[in-house]
Amino acid sequence: MKNETPLNIALIGFGTVGSGVARILATQAETLSIKAGRPINLRRVVVRDASKSREYLPAGISVSTDVADVVNDPEIQLVVQLVGGIDPAHEYMKSFLAAGKDVVTANKALIYQHGESLFQLAATNGRTIGFEAAVAGGIPIISAVTQALAGNRILSIEGILNGTSNFILTQMLDHEQTYEDVLKEAQALGYAEADPAMDVDGTDAAQKLSILTELAFATRVPLESIVRQGIDCLELLDLQVAQELGYKIKLLATSRLHGERLEVSVQPTLIRGDRTIAQIDGADNIVAVEGDAVGMTTFSGAGAGQLPTASAVVADIVDYATGRTQLTFQSILRSLKQPSVSIQPQEELSRRYYLRFTVDDRAHVLADIADILGRHEISISSVRQDESSESSSGTARLVIMTHHTTEGSLRGADAELKKLACIQGQSIRLPVAD
Ligand code: NAP
Ligand code: HSE
Repeated sequence: MKNETPLNIALIGFGTVGSGVARILATQAETLSIKAGRPINLRRVVVRDASKSREYLPAGISVSTDVADVVNDPEIQLVVQLVGGIDPAHEYMKSFLAAGKDVVTANKALIYQHGESLFQLAATNGRTIGFEAAVAGGIPIISAVTQALAGNRILSIEGILNGTSNFILTQMLDHEQTYEDVLKEAQALGYAEADPAMDVDGTDAAQKLSILTELAFATRVPLESIVRQGIDCLELLDLQVAQELGYKIKLLATSRLHGERLEVSVQPTLIRGDRTIAQIDGADNIVAVEGDAVGMTTFSGAGAGQLPTASAVVADIVDYATGRTQLTFQSILRSLKQPSVSIQPQEELSRRYYLRFTVDDRAHVLADIADILGRHEISISSVRQDESSESSSGTARLVIMTHHTTEGSLRGADAELKKLACIQGQSIRLPVAD
């Protein structure tokens, strides 16, 4: 039955995602009111600069730069906070919860960093927090992990969780665009964070992985415990060599149980080209979740951008309007109190590796490198030195693929390799997921 009393909401932030939410609320008003059981009324908007002209801003709506206008409006029940970063988003969120308002947000940095205390504050005040859009944009992965897969013990979560870096890798390889040009394009398309360093250095994906890991395994993983590497270390040559070897390089986020210990990493990874995950291109994301009952499930779709992200935010608004959030949020709070698992020490991670060096093109260089690898029990699977990569500067690009070895062995070898005078510039090593 439909209730004619509207749900009054406020939007804090009217940028890429906020304007997308207003757009969906306007274009889908009738169907949304049916799904929600009552009309959804956008009553106030708060931004940083009220003088900007804005597409999709409903006529006659109150726009201000002061969140107190929302805090002090007793008609507003739900605040949709779409301001990025920690400050002042954190203070805003606390003031809304303390004022007895429920909150929906897409801010993964905030949920990662202050989720625990914010959830506690919400619980103390009898309020809720919806955060479906905080991980993997339009893919409903939070509800999948917390609700749809409730019948499972989750065994692993693996995927691509950052749209910007996937877009950059795709455009560089397919169109030979420069890293800098594609990053600018990703910013113009609204995919990148206000500080795009967080997209390309793996921080954003690691924050999302940490959120998913906590929901799936009741285990809080701080960024320091995640083996983390961004795409900013890659060159076009790495993408091309990987492709010639039958792989695609993707920024792969992994949380996997080994017995009672959890492997957690975010790294550009060589993935066999015929695997689904390797074929996810552009700003799309993919999340493969393995449960003990269901087996492997895979969710893919747009991981960033205005409408895909707004799609997840609007789903949270509808869930709240129907009363579902009030139930699922309680369930999440209870689940987070389950016993946690321990994190596998980084040194124990065992994978094959891709190693790329720029070396002096002279005798004994390969022998020196192989000697160090050998002394650390790292067995070489193949060596590749492309003649065309040799430059007039007398250096050459050397790519070594290893057999299975541990992160610890590689770290030990790294320390010695760094001392070799024949190695020039930055070397990189990437794991291989066969
Ligand atoms: P955005 O385009 O930069 O928009 C941010 C909005 O916040 C702007 O309207 C800005 O106002 C407003 N704002 C900034 N500081 C403010 C302050 N102190 N007080 C009031 N308003 C303030 O960012 P976005 O891409 O929409 O992202 C919003 C959130 O969603 C972020 O947490 C982001 O990580 C997350 N997210 C984004 C995507 C995506 O694809 N873009 C996907 C998933 C999650 P002005 O317009 O006046 O500057
Ligand atoms: N900057 C983020 C990304 C937005 O590129 O994935 C979606 O969370």
